Amino acid sequence: MAAAIETRKLTKTYKSRLHGLINVVQDLDLTVEEGEIFGFLGPNGAGKTTTIKMLLGIIYPTGGEGFVLGKEIGDMDVHRIISYLPERPYYYEHMTGLEILRFYGALFGIKDEALFNQLLERVNLAADKSKTISQFSKGMQQRIGLAQSLLNDPKLLFLDEPTGGLDPIAHIEIRDLILKFRDEGRTVFISSHELSEVERICDRVAIINKGIIVSQGKLDDLLSGGRIEIIADDVSKEIADQIKGTADATVSFHEGRLIVDMSDEQDPNSVVDSIRSTKGRIISLTPRRKRLEDLFIETVRDDDASKKKPAAVAAEAGGAQ
Ligand SMILES: Nc1ncnc2c1ncn2[C@@H]1O[C@H](COP(=O)(O)OP(=O)(O)OP(=O)(O)O)[C@@H](O)[C@H]1O
Ligand SMILES: [Mg+2]
Repeated sequence: MAAAIETRKLTKTYKSRLHGLINVVQDLDLTVEEGEIFGFLGPNGAGKTTTIKMLLGIIYPTGGEGFVLGKEIGDMDVHRIISYLPERPYYYEHMTGLEILRFYGALFGIKDEALFNQLLERVNLAADKSKTISQFSKGMQQRIGLAQSLLNDPKLLFLDEPTGGLDPIAHIEIRDLILKFRDEGRTVFISSHELSEVERICDRVAIINKGIIVSQGKLDDLLSGGRIEIIADDVSKEIADQIKGTADATVSFHEGRLIVDMSDEQDPNSVVDSIRSTKGRIISLTPRRKRLEDLFIETVRDDDASKKKPAAVAAEAGGAQ
């Protein structure tokens, strides 16, 4: 199956009067498979929006190449089958939701009133038909944005921070809509800071820091290498001490119950056997995968630290002269 998005060494360099040439996005190798929800994560200023804009052909890369649905980026034919919900969509304040859909529909030559009403229903705005954008809450604005992004029945959607600034209920609504996009066979490329959200819906993710991809893969693979928690009753102090001797395990008692927290690289059977060798009773054994938030912070911090080192060494060397 062809990839929905493929980039090779995609690069964007800006000239800055203060700092000379700056690689805002550098040597980006990205693969997004068809039909998946792909999370594009990174701290503020990492290069997410710049990458999306290059993929959309809004700005030109200064190096490398990229393909969207098999066509080289910038190919205008692709625009008929992709859509984009920007980070801060701007709508004419005096328009109603229906008028927005008519307005953007016209850009694709779509005049299908039944479709407009169906899309309003779909994003739960049918009852607010008479409200203008100035009377819309932020969540309603995001929902009309998603309705708009469905106008051309796209195969691939780019959503830049689709849940930014929304309350938990609005989050769930948007999340459910995005999951349905995937059920319909669409590919969804989401840039986001909402890591728990991304963890719930994305199949694969890439983390970008300072313009460079620092991690990319299936979420399940990236978050494996987690912990296992074993809870047991009726375990003696001696057995607990014996388990404590196992490398990379922390052992504690809570209200008389033993709690063992161990790396999932170790075999939990030996711990279970120790517990059961006396009259201990296993209550639960739960694999706990890493949280995306931990992976994100670890990856970005490690990357920042590794980049600082050579600069610091250079500065020290310079200072010693
Ligand atoms: N036209 C431009 N000229 C110079 N630098 C730019 C330009 N556009 C963006 N940048 C710089 O590129 C970097 C990446 O910006 P970008 O908007 O892609 O980040 P982002 O990952 O989307 O961040 P955020 O999470 O805040 O939306 C920033 O340092 C930004 O200042
Ligand atoms: Mg951005």
